[in-house]
Amino acid sequence: MERKVVFSGLQPTGNIHIGNYLGALRNWVLLQDDYDAIYCVVDLHAITVPYEPEDLRRDRVETAKLLLAIGIDPERSLLYYQSQVRQHVELAWLLATLTPLGVLNRMTQFKEKSDKAGRNLGLYAYPVLMAADIMVHKAHAVPVGEDQTQHLEVTRDLAEKFNNRFGEEFPVPEQITPKVGARVMSLQDPTSKMSKTDPDARSKVLLVDPPQVIRKKIRSAVTDSGHEIEYDREKKPGVSNLLEIMSQFTGRSIDDLVAEYHDTLYGHFKDAVADAVIEGLAPIRDAYTALADADVEALMLDGAKVARERAEDSMASVRAKMGF
Ligand code: TYM
Repeated sequence: MERKVVFSGLQPTGNIHIGNYLGALRNWVLLQDDYDAIYCVVDLHAITVPYEPEDLRRDRVETAKLLLAIGIDPERSLLYYQSQVRQHVELAWLLATLTPLGVLNRMTQFKEKSDKAGRNLGLYAYPVLMAADIMVHKAHAVPVGEDQTQHLEVTRDLAEKFNNRFGEEFPVPEQITPKVGARVMSLQDPTSKMSKTDPDARSKVLLVDPPQVIRKKIRSAVTDSGHEIEYDREKKPGVSNLLEIMSQFTGRSIDDLVAEYHDTLYGHFKDAVADAVIEGLAPIRDAYTALADADVEALMLDGAKVARERAEDSMASVRAKMGF
C-alpha cells in the first residue's frame, strides 16, 4: 500500500525556538517513520514581512541545518527550499481565484502581523500560498502548532472547493498537533505565545542556545503569585508553561512532575526545568555545529529537483482539470 504524505513548512526567519520544536518539529521527525514525508523551508513566506536579502540567505541555510540537526533524515524525507519549486506559486495563484476575501479578512495572524509589519498583498495571501504548499504534494497530514489551525481550515476548505468544482484531486488534510506543547508560551509573558519575532531575547529558548544561556533564560522566566508548583493554565500560566516544557523534554507526565516538585521552591524547580531543556537540546546543538553550509546547500538542491518532479505531476492534472 502506498504511504500517506505528510507535509509541513518552517519559515527561515532565524530564532527557531523550543515552541517551534515542541509544537511542530518533533512531530516532523517522528512522522518520517510512517509517512512519505516532505518538509520545506518556506522562504517565500518569510518575505511577507520586512527583511534584508543577506539575512534571508543566512537564515535559510541555518534553518535547513537545524532541520537536519533535529533528525530530519534526507534518506527518508524530502527536504527543500520552497522558492526552488515554482509550482507552489503557480498553484497559489490558481487557488487564490477560489478564495473569498472574507476568509482572509478573518485571519488572526494577518491582523497581528500587519499591525507590526504593515499591510501587503503577500501577507494577506499568506494562507493561500500555505494551502498551495500542502496541496501541491497532495498531503494527507500536516504537523503544526496550534497557531496554524485557522490556516489549516482554509486549506481544507480550498481542497473541498476545488474537488467539488473541478473534480476529485486533493485529499482534505488533517492537522497533527501534540496534546502538550501545541502552544508554548513566552517565558516573559506566559499569556502570549513564544514567538520568533519577540524582541525580548529572554522570552524564548533557541534550539542553538548554549547551556548557560538556557539556564539564565529559564531562571528569569516570569512565574506566578503563590509558591506551589501546580498545573493550572488560567491561574498559574508561568509555572504551567514550565511544567509543559519539562514534561515534553523528559517524557514524564505533568502529574508526575507536580507530585515531585509541588512543595519545592521556584528556584529549585526552574533549575530542574533548565537541566531537562539543556540535556534535550545538547545533541541538536552538537549536530548543528558539525554541519557545513556547502554540503547542506547541495542537499537542498537535490531535494528541490525531486520535489519539482512530484509537484509537476500534480500540476499537470490540476491544469487539465481547470481547462488549461
Ligand atoms: P513558522 O515558521 O512560523 O512556525 C513553525 C512551526 O512552529 C509552530 N509554532 C509553535 N508551536 C508551539 N508553540 C509556539 N509558541 C509556536 N510558535 C510556532 C507553528 O505552528 C509551526 O507549525 N505558516 C507556517 C509555515 C508554513 C507551513 C506551510 C506549515 C508555510 N507553509 C505548509 C505547514 C504547511 C508557520 O507559521 O511557520
